[in-house]
Amino acid sequence: MNLRQLFLSHVAQTSAAPLALEIIKAEGCVLIDASGKEYLDLIGGISVANVGHRHPKVVEAIKKQTDDYLHVMVYGEFVQSPQVQYAKLLTQHLPSSLDSVYFTNSGAEAVEGAMKLAKRATGRTEIIAFQNSYHGSTQGALSIIGDEYWRNAFRPLLPDIQHLRYNSFDDLKFITQQTACVIAETVQAEAGIIAPQKEWLRFLQERCTEVGALFILDEIQAGFGRTGKLWGFENFNVVPDVLLLGKALGGGLPLGAFIADKSLMDCLTDNPVLGHITTFGGHPLCCAAGKAAFEALLDEELFASAKEKEALCRSLLVHPNIKSLSSFGLWMAVEFESFEENKKIIDACIANGVLTDWFLFASNCLRISPPLTLSLRQVKQACEIILEALP
Ligand SMILES: Cc1ncc(COP(=O)(O)O)c(C=O)c1O
Repeated sequence: MNLRQLFLSHVAQTSAAPLALEIIKAEGCVLIDASGKEYLDLIGGISVANVGHRHPKVVEAIKKQTDDYLHVMVYGEFVQSPQVQYAKLLTQHLPSSLDSVYFTNSGAEAVEGAMKLAKRATGRTEIIAFQNSYHGSTQGALSIIGDEYWRNAFRPLLPDIQHLRYNSFDDLKFITQQTACVIAETVQAEAGIIAPQKEWLRFLQERCTEVGALFILDEIQAGFGRTGKLWGFENFNVVPDVLLLGKALGGGLPLGAFIADKSLMDCLTDNPVLGHITTFGGHPLCCAAGKAAFEALLDEELFASAKEKEALCRSLLVHPNIKSLSSFGLWMAVEFESFEENKKIIDACIANGVLTDWFLFASNCLRISPPLTLSLRQVKQACEIILEALP
């Protein structure tokens, strides 16, 4: 059997039609498959490779950390320099109320941790989320994702969950003194890059404060420069009580985090002690890689050029078959008539050397979420290939 057949036989499958590209090298914005074919990466591992694949500083940090130590103890017991240094750097670039970082293995685990924190901090159980939001695939995170098709087969899920309409001022009245927390994506990713109205997000925060519910923003995709600012919430003049990070946080290695005020986070230290435990969360290798990636993002000011590249894409991607283009920074959903049409365009793009895909809740939209290091020349090249793929 060749590697592809072994993959299909022995690696648990998540769909009947995986992309099944056999990538043997990834560098910057380019992936190379086993036949030597190159692909311009418009996905970035789904908003992970914000500083590009194998950024030299990330590779160097990983090599250095492997020389020192790998796993030594479960989370929270030992003083591990990569964790401490990364938490310090992150909090230096966050508002002062977000000064305590709980590192996890994944985005979904950060969501779980934040929901637990909200229950402990408020003594309440109701959690409010939004239609068409994605927060992860564990049972807690699944309970709050905003689409019944994806939830239904796994019921019973968490009780006491409500889904409101994103951007609906009317629905804010459902947030009450029963509510432990409200979890929203700062910009809805899998819905096809749907931004909140500035006023709405501010009202949402105010409503949470009024009733004593925690205001939690999921920036697992929107963080790390994707929106043109370092943090997505900076676009809207709000500051969450709890910030959720993942994906690009680890610079290509698995890492998530929920970040809150230290006094709030301390709820997890007693009654019961060890309120959230993880063996590998905040793994030293992942923290070393993530810190190097974050430093590269800051040094190279990668978020600063996202808006320019967004504008270039918007000016180039004009065609009668494109129904709309929704974007926020270097993060776009190109809308076509149907999933079938989108799928043909995606397949043609891949055949012609541009890697893209569709969105979970917007299957008729083509995803543009490349490394922020994509050059203007590569933006033009990618747009030309997309346009050539249109019927
Ligand atoms: C907005 C958002 N939240 C949470 C998650 C869950 O992260 P993970 O897949 O690392 O568990 C994702 C993953 O796609 C996401 O896009």
